[in-house]
Amino acid sequence: MKTTNTNSKELYEQHIVGNYPVAPLTLVKGEGSRVWDDEGNEYLDFSSGIAVNTLGHAHPLWVQRLGEQASTLAHCSNLYRNPNQALLAEKLTDLAGAGKVFFCNSGAEANEFLIKLARLYGRDMTGVEGRRYEVLTVKNSFHGRTFGGMAATPQTKIQKGFAPMLEGFAHGEINNLESFEALITDKTAAILIEPILGEGGILPCSVEFLRGIRDLCNRRGLLLLLDEVQCGCGRTGRFFAFEHAGIRPDAIGMAKGLGAGFPIGAVWVDRKFASLFTPGSHGSTFAGSPLACAAALTTLEIMENENLVEKVAQRGAQFRESLEKLAQHHPDKIKEVRGLGYLLAMSPVGETPPLQAALRERGLITAGGAAVRFLPPLNITEADLEAGLKIIEAALSEL
Ligand SMILES: Cc1ncc(COP(=O)(O)O)c(C=O)c1O
Repeated sequence: MKTTNTNSKELYEQHIVGNYPVAPLTLVKGEGSRVWDDEGNEYLDFSSGIAVNTLGHAHPLWVQRLGEQASTLAHCSNLYRNPNQALLAEKLTDLAGAGKVFFCNSGAEANEFLIKLARLYGRDMTGVEGRRYEVLTVKNSFHGRTFGGMAATPQTKIQKGFAPMLEGFAHGEINNLESFEALITDKTAAILIEPILGEGGILPCSVEFLRGIRDLCNRRGLLLLLDEVQCGCGRTGRFFAFEHAGIRPDAIGMAKGLGAGFPIGAVWVDRKFASLFTPGSHGSTFAGSPLACAAALTTLEIMENENLVEKVAQRGAQFRESLEKLAQHHPDKIKEVRGLGYLLAMSPVGETPPLQAALRERGLITAGGAAVRFLPPLNITEADLEAGLKIIEAALSEL
């Protein structure tokens, strides 16, 4: 294909829908925890493509396996079995418990499945379609940009312009069990929760709250659905974030880190509820392809072989301590440090973008939003973590 203009900034302005606040940086290459822009500048990557690049960039085994699978069988639809999908589903049930797996391509799609599961469950309980269908979610949480995801995400900035929202959602306060109990009606079918609110600025649900919600769901006959799209796949130092609370959900949505950069989403459903879906009740053309599943299988294999979840738990705690020390030195700039493992945030006294820009100018890229999020690859070296801390220290001193 002939291209006449190689200036990405201009091409973006001319041809890309402007729905993202894009940073002034064109990335062209990655290796390990580092990326390079089109001017040859090197950056430490503490954003991991918003918690996606579990293994950093260009992990040799991941690259090799994707190449092998692409040259063998990339896609075959869900009308035929493929061995990688079967193996990955088995692996995910080993991790989550006795249940079954639905594959999709993104976090929002995982949540659509969870919302549909709630509706099927509600119908099953009453025998009448549409009698129990309401899903309760947490204010400030984020569940994606589809109509189901938006309705589950009670934020004006997400919903603005797209009214009317999908019906059947109500929202309680994080870590306030009573606020959820008060919302339950004879229409409620499920509670959908992010164990750690990622886009909300890394706001953890307390262990007591998650246990209380599990108990509430048991008492009132509701499904407990967990959105582990951002906080799952080892990022908090356990494979699933809910494990810190020792609870067992009825279904878990995953995406982001599962394929370490190849798009794949999945939902694990407890065996009791998996049969609510029957042939034709849901689907996705691309989901669970041999290629996507090879990416996820390889990711899980490397995570296991390199003990990445344990490393995240240990090094994440040290990293958080160092961030807290920095925050204590700069109370005029940093309000708080939050999170677990490699799902950490510093909330600045002022706006997030200036601190993010200061870090970027010094060679560290991060994820933004309600706070500056530090989401390094799970296999980052101690030397790179240390180098990142030095940049954060310098930026806070000089800002
Ligand atoms: C917790 C959570 N759920 C759902 C989503 C939506 O995922 P996707 O952008 O892959 O649709 C995100 C994305 O940031 C997320 O953090």
